Amino acid sequence: MSRTVQIRTPIPGPRSQELLRRREAAVPRGVANVAPIFAAETRGATLTDVDGNVFLDFAGGIGVLNLGANHPEVVAAVKEQVDRFLHTCFHVTMYEPYVRLAEELNRLTPGDFPKKTALFNSGAEAVENAVKLARRYTGRPAVITFTHAFHGRTLLGMSLTAKVSTYKYGFGPFAPEIYRLPAVYPYRSPFADPAATARHALEDVRRAIEDEIGPDKVAALIIEPVQGEGGFLVQPPEFLRGLRALCDEYGIVFIADEIQTGFGRTGRFFAVEHSGVVPDLVTMAKSLGDGLPISAVTGRAEIMDAAQVGGLGGTYGGNPVACAAALKVIEVMERDRYVERAQAVGERVLARFRDWHERFELVGDVRGLGAMAAIELVKDRATKEPATEETAAIFKRCYENGLILMKAGHHNQVIRFLAPLAITDEQLDEGLDILEEAIASVSRTR
Ligand SMILES: Cc1ncc(COP(=O)(O)O)c(C=O)c1O
Repeated sequence: MSRTVQIRTPIPGPRSQELLRRREAAVPRGVANVAPIFAAETRGATLTDVDGNVFLDFAGGIGVLNLGANHPEVVAAVKEQVDRFLHTCFHVTMYEPYVRLAEELNRLTPGDFPKKTALFNSGAEAVENAVKLARRYTGRPAVITFTHAFHGRTLLGMSLTAKVSTYKYGFGPFAPEIYRLPAVYPYRSPFADPAATARHALEDVRRAIEDEIGPDKVAALIIEPVQGEGGFLVQPPEFLRGLRALCDEYGIVFIADEIQTGFGRTGRFFAVEHSGVVPDLVTMAKSLGDGLPISAVTGRAEIMDAAQVGGLGGTYGGNPVACAAALKVIEVMERDRYVERAQAVGERVLARFRDWHERFELVGDVRGLGAMAAIELVKDRATKEPATEETAAIFKRCYENGLILMKAGHHNQVIRFLAPLAITDEQLDEGLDILEEAIASVSRTR
């Protein structure tokens, strides 16, 4: 069996080191980098750096590359659009790819009712606009968000986001009328039974809405069906269904943030589909464009139409080149059954993760939905103290051995799997072997 990974120099290699020096002088430290690697070329689930080292990619540019890096059909569609026109601004002169992509997203998102779609550039922008729409539609100010949530880095996005140390520290004051309530974290819940955890969390949300905020003040509730940055926390279907029922009871707009979970990652087109919940609005970005910056809000036509003419948009939103990429992504995903591939990849990864849970004390929890899978590392299974330093050591050993990973969780104690779904089984096993060796090496020296 031929190996994909080829490590020719110590990491970072000499060219990367030179670029690192320039990067440190020219780019602020706040723009974090998870590995000291500079890309030269990407293909499928591989990345070749400027020193000629070939890495396997389990990060997918943070869940952007479900279809694989530089998918040839996406690249061809982009080139074709580049040759026709790059930009007109949809507000100035319209173009068909924007309209066609809106039609496609109206078709694909859950819900059998009239829908409309507005396009933007980034995930944070989609979140901002979903909240704007919910407020305009309901005429109410408050937004409910959850513990461990991540919704972006703009003022409203970071206000909705939970983790202070990285994303919010010193950046306040934050946007007002945001109420954070507990999401479900089965591994760290005081209740043994996940259904009991879900029930208690739901009671907390109801109590907060009824007693503390006032139901007639709540415009929207926004939730990631699987919380991404927070540590791949799968929200139980009964919790999501309970939230949906509360939203129905009080006329609150249910926003599913599918920015990281969408486009097949969890073994359904959208993760919320696992619960049968139909959101009022869905936010999308990341793997929608397979690397081109594009995001969307899709939802009930009457909510989407609530904003006054001119109330939504931006100079670049729904850029034609990004629309061409997204349209090709949808075509290829459906034709090549990427949703089914996500299930198969997820099963293969989770089987290995469960085996590690049996063998390594360090692996405290294994969780996931489809190919959105993670392990949480703890110093001690009894206290569940987050193994932050061990996770960092594993992470470093992995990239030195040719595997690019992403961490997650409030203590950077979770290793998450976001490899392109185009990864082959051989590449998957090769990457998992590198990760296993790194876990074993840290476990031995504990
Ligand atoms: C669930 C979720 N919402 C919003 C965002 C923000 O997206 P962007 O970084 O494109 O602004 C992210 C990014 O990781 C995300 O995972």
